[in-house]
Amino acid sequence: MSYNTILLDKHDNVAVITLNRPEALNALNAELLGEVVSALKEMEADSEIGCMIITGSDKAFAAGADIKEMAEQSMTDMMAADVFGHTQKAFMHDIKKPVIAAVNGYALGGGCELAMLCDFILAGETAKFGQPEINLGVIPGIGGSQRLTKLIGKSKAMDMMLTGRMMDANEAERAGLASRIFPTDDLVDEAIKVAGVIAGKSLPSVVMAKETVIKAVDIPTQDGVDFEKRCFYSLFSTEDQKEGMAAFVEKRQPNFKNK
Ligand code: CAA
Repeated sequence: MSYNTILLDKHDNVAVITLNRPEALNALNAELLGEVVSALKEMEADSEIGCMIITGSDKAFAAGADIKEMAEQSMTDMMAADVFGHTQKAFMHDIKKPVIAAVNGYALGGGCELAMLCDFILAGETAKFGQPEINLGVIPGIGGSQRLTKLIGKSKAMDMMLTGRMMDANEAERAGLASRIFPTDDLVDEAIKVAGVIAGKSLPSVVMAKETVIKAVDIPTQDGVDFEKRCFYSLFSTEDQKEGMAAFVEKRQPNFKNK
């Protein structure tokens, strides 16, 4: 498939989706969000690929939803198109393989929300995160109020959303928004290495590990624990569980079949 607003590259078993609207600091218009979803689905269906990365440029991961595209929209227009709803549904329901956000530069508004829709965030040293929608007379619309609060807690989320201030990479890592920080120039290569490690594991256990962590965030603990137990027991029906445990006992590296 060919794309206008993103680049899609494969590095062995890792796919890299690069947001590519430099003239607008990768602002998320409907076309770009549609293409990100299409590329994720294309890579989800590609048996060679075990992990995906979404990244932007050194200056901007994405500076938010496209303000110029939204400025004159009515409430009815926004609700009818529901671009942000469709994007979230695709991430939550269609994509089982892990997706990593590799963030350099600005990740603001919808850009920060897109990063949080990914399974975890690797930040470059120059990353800047924020939910500045309050400065435009609106609030986050791609799940930011919910995901940011769950990731960094009520007090800091209120601070970010009500003041519209930006958080640098160190603060984001301390707050639990980003999992690790890398030098800006190395970020994408390091993200590919991290994704390669994940893509080398057994896919059924990767998919279930992702699902169980998502449940931990979204559902009551006891329901999540029950779900985890069912996943854990079901993995004993896979060849890879037999191989992984045999390899440990035999003191060798596992050779997983379902990668
Ligand atoms: N939408 C549309 N265009 C954008 C944009 C956005 N979110 N962010 C930047 N651009 C465009 C600018 O209009 C500019 O275009 P022109 O050259 O045609 O004027 C170009 O990108 C470069 O931007 P700047 O000249 O502003 O670059 P800068 O380095 O001076 O500032 C910035 C960088 C601080 C990120 C600034 O661009 C900015 O504040 N952007 C808007 C951030 C924002 O408010 N994001 C939230 C959007 S609303 C949202 O996301 C809703 C939601 O939750 C779904």
